[in-house]
Amino acid sequence: MELYDVMRTTFAARDFTADSLPDATLLKILEAARFAPSGGNRQGWSVIVVRDQKTREALSALTAPAAKRHAAQAQNGENLWNTIDRPRVDAAAIERTPAPVRLIEPPLKAAVVLVICVDLKVVASTDQELDRVGVISGASIYPFAWNILLAARHEGFGGTITTLAVSQEPKIQQLLGIPPHVAVAAIMPLGRPVRQLTRLKRKPVAEFARHERWDGRPFTG
Ligand SMILES: Cc1cc2nc3c(=O)[nH]c(=O)nc-3n(C[C@H](O)[C@H](O)[C@H](O)COP(=O)(O)O)c2cc1C
Repeated sequence: MELYDVMRTTFAARDFTADSLPDATLLKILEAARFAPSGGNRQGWSVIVVRDQKTREALSALTAPAAKRHAAQAQNGENLWNTIDRPRVDAAAIERTPAPVRLIEPPLKAAVVLVICVDLKVVASTDQELDRVGVISGASIYPFAWNILLAARHEGFGGTITTLAVSQEPKIQQLLGIPPHVAVAAIMPLGRPVRQLTRLKRKPVAEFARHERWDGRPFTG
């Protein structure tokens, strides 16, 4: 596929056909994805390729608690899982909110599930002294994760970067034997999408790019 077409049409695929994603194709995808950048080129990523049904079920179950909070906050009109706007829903409201099927089902239905990890011993976190949630560390792993989705799209497959299960990271580490200094960055279901979306909802450039300063005039080229 042409690069711009891939960039404009790589969507969050959550519904998959029964088609398999063979190891040979997955290897090709990972072969291309490994050229992603990372801080200091330390390449702290690891990928666990999960096909086992019991492990998928466990990953789906570990997604449920965060999916319940996600849904409860959405119903309450809140910014989801935000660190500045703290949650206003209480534990009881979260408990009685069912986990949306579309958030917990993908690991069960995908051809394969990738657990994408990053070794925190090699990640440079230049924002570590700031009084806000860390952002920089993710930049050493998510370009790699996104490269997987771009390459998958090129091969006719799709998937999603999912992070809800990471709220239960210690249990994922225990489930898969991941050491404590290795963070789980994403659980990525991959497979052949039932539908291929081609018109993704995204803001126009003028809404997010400005000349020279935060309050500068919109950048329109
Ligand atoms: C950091 C990050 C975390 C995400 N976590 C989840 C998740 O836990 N579950 C999920 O279903 N989608 C998750 N997504 C997918 C987003 O919802 C999706 O990329 C966005 O809604 C755009 O979807 P579209 O490309 O189909 O338009 C995540 C995406 C990113 C980048």
